[in-house]
Amino acid sequence: MDIKSYLADRKNAVEAFFGEYFGKAGRPAVLREAMLYSLNAGGKRIRPVLCLASYEACGGNGKEIIPYAAALEFIHTYSLIHDDLPAMDDDDLRRGKPTSHKVYGEAVAILAGDALLSEAFVVLTNPLLGPAVRPDNLFRAAGEIARASGCSGMVAGQVQDILSENSEPDEDTLQFIHRHKTAALLRASATAGALLHGGSTEIVDAIDRYGQSLGLAFQVIDDILDVEGDTAVIGKPAGSDEKKKKMTYPRMYGLDRSREIARTFVADAVAALDAIPLSVEPLRELAFHLLGRSH
Ligand code: IPE
Ligand code: IPE
Ligand code: MG
Ligand code: MG
Ligand code: MG
Repeated sequence: MDIKSYLADRKNAVEAFFGEYFGKAGRPAVLREAMLYSLNAGGKRIRPVLCLASYEACGGNGKEIIPYAAALEFIHTYSLIHDDLPAMDDDDLRRGKPTSHKVYGEAVAILAGDALLSEAFVVLTNPLLGPAVRPDNLFRAAGEIARASGCSGMVAGQVQDILSENSEPDEDTLQFIHRHKTAALLRASATAGALLHGGSTEIVDAIDRYGQSLGLAFQVIDDILDVEGDTAVIGKPAGSDEKKKKMTYPRMYGLDRSREIARTFVADAVAALDAIPLSVEPLRELAFHLLGRSH
């Protein structure tokens, strides 16, 4: 299969929803402008695609859940706006453009992030946006996404990431950071697709394991790209982790071993799919595609 066109199709559908959803003018105008600025700046849209791919693996038609998949990108985009703030990673470039706080100031950037997070759950609790999904399945998916985003998920990882700046890396803390700040939402994105379709416990568990390992690989690769990527290609400042003395895989293990670890996580992700009798080709291809990514 052609994973690039698979990704492009779904990316377009998700991006079309942003325009539809935030199309109407709101007051104050700058709030919507700031939300759309960061949403439309670009991005790989991996979380929505993961959600769509697992829903499709369960036999659904991805078109039925575009709003719910897009809501994952609202959450992710909020996390990036906040991650770049001076109080956090203090970065000036995101998705190849000046960061939100550089354009709109810190107050509006913080609030645009807050609004994106809340708005995600406005979408995820509206059964009318995806009538093919049973409301109890929607409820379970929304709960899973909320847990993965909050104080037992991404936010916990972000706090530990900040607390660990300038510390000697240790395996346990490093794994905690990556598991929470990045793998949690990627895992929940994949799992949500299966939950939205009402997948069996066996299927949900296998997709959950896939998403977890894929999420860990994803952050190890992000760490590697921070060291050896080009700012122009990654669309964010290379060397940001070094500047903040972040606890990363390359700092703990060096680049070669980090690459090996990323490969192992991808192999674990793909192996988890073997447990289920579904059409998992796009999920499998996506994992290999992300291993080779340059941005
Ligand atoms: C960047 O995420 C932040 C991490 C959690 C590693 P992505 O690499 O998915 O960023 P975009 O959405 O493509 O810009
Ligand atoms: C951030 O990790 C993960 C988030 C939850 C946003 P990083 O700080 O490494 O992400 P980048 O490299 O700035 O995209
Ligand atoms: Mg960060
Ligand atoms: Mg950062
Ligand atoms: Mg990074």
